[in-house]
Amino acid sequence: MHKYLFLLGRQPKLSIAELKAVVGEGKVIGEFYMIEIKNEIDDPIKLQNMLGGTIKIAKIISQKSSLIDIENKCMSYLGNHDDAKVIFSVSLYNFAHSFKKDLNNLLKNIKRRLKANGKGARFVNKPFENVRSVTIYEERLCQKGTDMTIIKLGREFVLAYSLAVQNFKQYSIRDYDRPARDAKSGMLPPKLAQIMTNIACGNNLSVVYDPFCGSGTVLMEALLQGHQVMGSDISEKAVNDTKKNLDWIENKFSSASGQVINIFQHDATTLQKSDFLIMPKVVVFEGYLGPSLSKFPPANERKKNFKDVSEVLFGALKAVNEILDAYADIVIAIPFYKGRDKKYFLANFVELLKNLNYKIINFDNSDTSRGSLLYYRENQIVGREIFHLKTTF
Ligand SMILES: C[S@@+](CC[C@H](N)C(=O)[O-])C[C@H]1O[C@@H](n2cnc3c(N)ncnc32)[C@H](O)[C@@H]1O
Repeated sequence: MHKYLFLLGRQPKLSIAELKAVVGEGKVIGEFYMIEIKNEIDDPIKLQNMLGGTIKIAKIISQKSSLIDIENKCMSYLGNHDDAKVIFSVSLYNFAHSFKKDLNNLLKNIKRRLKANGKGARFVNKPFENVRSVTIYEERLCQKGTDMTIIKLGREFVLAYSLAVQNFKQYSIRDYDRPARDAKSGMLPPKLAQIMTNIACGNNLSVVYDPFCGSGTVLMEALLQGHQVMGSDISEKAVNDTKKNLDWIENKFSSASGQVINIFQHDATTLQKSDFLIMPKVVVFEGYLGPSLSKFPPANERKKNFKDVSEVLFGALKAVNEILDAYADIVIAIPFYKGRDKKYFLANFVELLKNLNYKIINFDNSDTSRGSLLYYRENQIVGREIFHLKTTF
């Protein structure tokens, strides 16, 4: 059996939901998700690149009851490097008050012992700190060096070495260098689009449809993952933006193995089967979020905005239900408002979903009593509430 660790991203619950869908059932250990599988992961970099919620993937090589045994294991692993100079980093997790001392000792001891064995050695950790994932990426530690992870698990220590780390530059390119951007009506962060698509599709290739495609973030990520993609939007500009961005993805990223089926202009509340060249299998969208806000809205404005959003949302979910097969997956982001000490959600959403014959697939440790997870930044007024739904009979 092979054991792997996945370092969870900024929104750990969403990362866990994504990993569960893509790599299967695992165990959460502090900031990590651990899986045990029969076969080795054959292309860890490809897997890493498809996981929006994972920061790095590491393979477990040892489990020992003392830190000195772990140090010896690190030595034998690093000592096998052919390179004259060993570049490495070590990060400790779940350690108590002794963290800084233990880390400092380990880094210095390993460096000293490597040198005593006739090797050049350099560690890239800043003094007394775990290494940052950006540094692992920039120093190319998964290719030219070694990044070690040590987790304290009860009385034992788990040792793993990293196979792949998040490619920060690629996400930034996809977010900021795309030809069409629409900051006004809002754009999903590419990582969140990836997570939502993965929760909906698992590790199957599918036909992904976004009825509120905006500038096409969901479809760009789905296309990169190899899915067939379809999108529509009520706005002509959004349709053109999505087409431009999908063309750009196809031309710039040779790994984009999916296929664009059709992008068309349509009101999501009046969609019919006859609007589609082929039938979508899963639906992923961030719908209309209401007006963009610079200050928290008073009660009457909040109610009006939510009413407008609800009308479009329910119209769309009703129409989409007619198009999809039974038991199809739908992952959506809807708005909520974040006040100073209270959050405001779309009321009656659960009852209305039931009336439309949707089942909510509750996320583990959901953030709300209705099974959803929340995605927001501290300074934002409008956050996103993420639901995983299934059509029923
Ligand atoms: C928040 S944006 C979606 C952004 C998109 N997820 C992205 O990352 O680019 C919402 C989109 O919903 C579209 N929209 C609003 N009402 C609609 C409706 N009734 N039918 C279809 N699209 C609608 C808007 O034109 C806008 O492009």
